[in-house]
Amino acid sequence: MHFQWYPGHMTKAKRAMQEDIRLIDVVIELVDARIPVSSKNPDINSLAGGKSRILLLNKSDMADPELLNAWIRFYEKKGILAMAVNSRKRNELKQVNTLIQKACKEKIERDRKRGILNRPVRAMIVGIPNVGKSTFINSFAGKACAKTGNRPGVTKGKQWIRLNKQVELLDTPGILWPRFEDQTVGQHLAFIGAIKDELIQSVELALDLIEFLVIQYPGTLADTYDVEETLPSAELLADLAKNRGCIQKGNELDYEKAAFLLLDDFRNARLGRITIERPDEFAEHSN
Ligand code: G4P
Repeated sequence: MHFQWYPGHMTKAKRAMQEDIRLIDVVIELVDARIPVSSKNPDINSLAGGKSRILLLNKSDMADPELLNAWIRFYEKKGILAMAVNSRKRNELKQVNTLIQKACKEKIERDRKRGILNRPVRAMIVGIPNVGKSTFINSFAGKACAKTGNRPGVTKGKQWIRLNKQVELLDTPGILWPRFEDQTVGQHLAFIGAIKDELIQSVELALDLIEFLVIQYPGTLADTYDVEETLPSAELLADLAKNRGCIQKGNELDYEKAAFLLLDDFRNARLGRITIERPDEFAEHSN
């Protein structure tokens, strides 16, 4: 399966991010908790070199709770400050503040020694498209926080949101791109709907998802669609189409409609909380 991306957009986004990163103290990176590795940008380590870092596993409400904990432990072991979040729930984001303070401890201490007190740390949100950056910023900042506007010495047009006495957030997130040249990454991004459906072959993708679910989450498809999980994936999809009335002209089964139905159910967590990537598969991974 092949996925397209747009090199022009990428170069522009990368340049914009490089500029913004100079202005901030801490990079808050959002990944999708269901595919933490595939939704991570490969260049962030070099782009954010020298800055404090936080990793947020977003959309945690849709991820498998057990694997979510396993991922947090995985990052902890690597010395990475990580936390699971649901950006749609403002109340659950309060703890991010504590994490920011922890990440910036050295900078705050340095400031204190120089006699600079209460200088807020500056943060920016980065992540691939659709990972939830805008949702996070809106929930985290809330309505009450006034924008501080432009400042001398700060690039024109940048808006800072004063979150509290300790933190200012850049209101525009940095957009990163995934490791799209890797086909497994492409497949995982397509599963969660991060790649436009015009660009993917839905039936092929649905068959891949069926194969994954039958092995990793046995019983899910049987319970949801009343299908036999021992069948080959194409026959299982045919049964799903039959049971859900996906029929086209001439009384033929509509495989495409059945594929979209399955993908849509998965993407909206109607099949339950499911995680595609497991930390034990990435024990040797650099991220
Ligand atoms: P982006 O800026 O990174 O491109 O992403 P954006 O905030 O636009 O979020 C993309 C979609 O993901 C939105 O759904 C958003 O509501 C959803 N989302 C973000 N964070 C979370 C989360 O923690 N949990 C869940 N379940 N969903 C989240 P949408 O369908 O595009 O729009 P809408 O349903 O909000 O109208």
